[in-house]
Amino acid sequence: MHENFSLKAYNTFGVDAKAQYFAEVNSVEELIKSIKPANSQIFKILFLGGGSNILFTKDFDGLAIKLNLKGITEEILNENEILVTAKAGENWHDFVMFCLNKNYGGLENLSLIPGNVGTSPMQNIGAYGTEIRDIFVNCKVLNLETLEVEAFDLEKCRFGYRDSIFKQEGRNNYVILEVTFKLTRKNHIIKTEYGAIKTELENLGIQNPTIQDVSRAVINIRQSKLPDPKVIGNAGSFFKNPTIPLVQFEDLKQKFENIQGYPKGDFVKVPAGWLIEQCGWKGKQIGNVASHQLQSLVIINATGNATGKEIFDFSTMIIDSVKEKFGIELEREVNII
Ligand code: EPU
Repeated sequence: MHENFSLKAYNTFGVDAKAQYFAEVNSVEELIKSIKPANSQIFKILFLGGGSNILFTKDFDGLAIKLNLKGITEEILNENEILVTAKAGENWHDFVMFCLNKNYGGLENLSLIPGNVGTSPMQNIGAYGTEIRDIFVNCKVLNLETLEVEAFDLEKCRFGYRDSIFKQEGRNNYVILEVTFKLTRKNHIIKTEYGAIKTELENLGIQNPTIQDVSRAVINIRQSKLPDPKVIGNAGSFFKNPTIPLVQFEDLKQKFENIQGYPKGDFVKVPAGWLIEQCGWKGKQIGNVASHQLQSLVIINATGNATGKEIFDFSTMIIDSVKEKFGIELEREVNII
């Protein structure tokens, strides 16, 4: 266990916050040892995956545990389907590539999402027409009270848009140890309805895309407008896309005729990036922090020297101006510590 340990390399914002104590664990046994009841009474505990969805606004006065559980196993279900299980510490994109190399379909639209497998169920990661709930079978978790391993199936996870039981009442009660997905071995379902994928496949001159082609298209799109956290500190979308009542959307449409929205029953999901851009934030920098010039939903550590507090304050300014102009309250997607 390390003391007074810098977490700069353990969060993709690259914020130099310190943990009072820090440990890395490579197995469930090590994990249980490190959180044995005596410890959990003394320390606050924070579990770190890939650190791609977290913002430290201050030092963490407890024990930060980096989960390094590794391994991927497979179980053929039938001619068409396979179950693939990855341990929490596997890098998400490497896992997607592993599956694509074996021609297992279902994860291709989720290529290049930062983070680890273990945190993917927390916020039901999603992009370009797929969310993990579409291929999720179950996950094994450690119950922090009983120290027993439990299985959570799809229903028990209560997935929603960027949401799950692990962000709600299950918060702080469980550590995800491994996740199992049901993937296709043939007759893959190709999802290209998302406009940008269609356009990118056309650019690549591909008419009958394979799952590998879809992955390539998604990688190209992401690389063309999302900053690489290894180069510029960021945590992907900083805010959720807000869902507003249809009547409110229709009112706004009178005033802002270009407003975009994806209707869902009596509600409409509005792209936060558009709202933020309309408020003049796209590419704007204050001190060490900026809104990304190609996707204003992404806040970046522009100089590499931003503190978490600066990033947080910048996000508050964005929330305030979107509220003032559109009457819509943006919600942060990133976990604030
Ligand atoms: N837009 C703007 N200005 C901007 C950004 C976006 O006008 O600065 C408009 C775009 O023109 C487009 C619409 O907003 O018409 C939607 O933009 P985009 O397709 O880039 O998707 P998004 O809604 O901004 C969401 C996810 C992303 C995911 C993409 C693709 C959320 C919070 N974000 O972004 O997820 O990659 O869809 O599916 O739902 C992440 O979570 O870190 C992330 C990157």
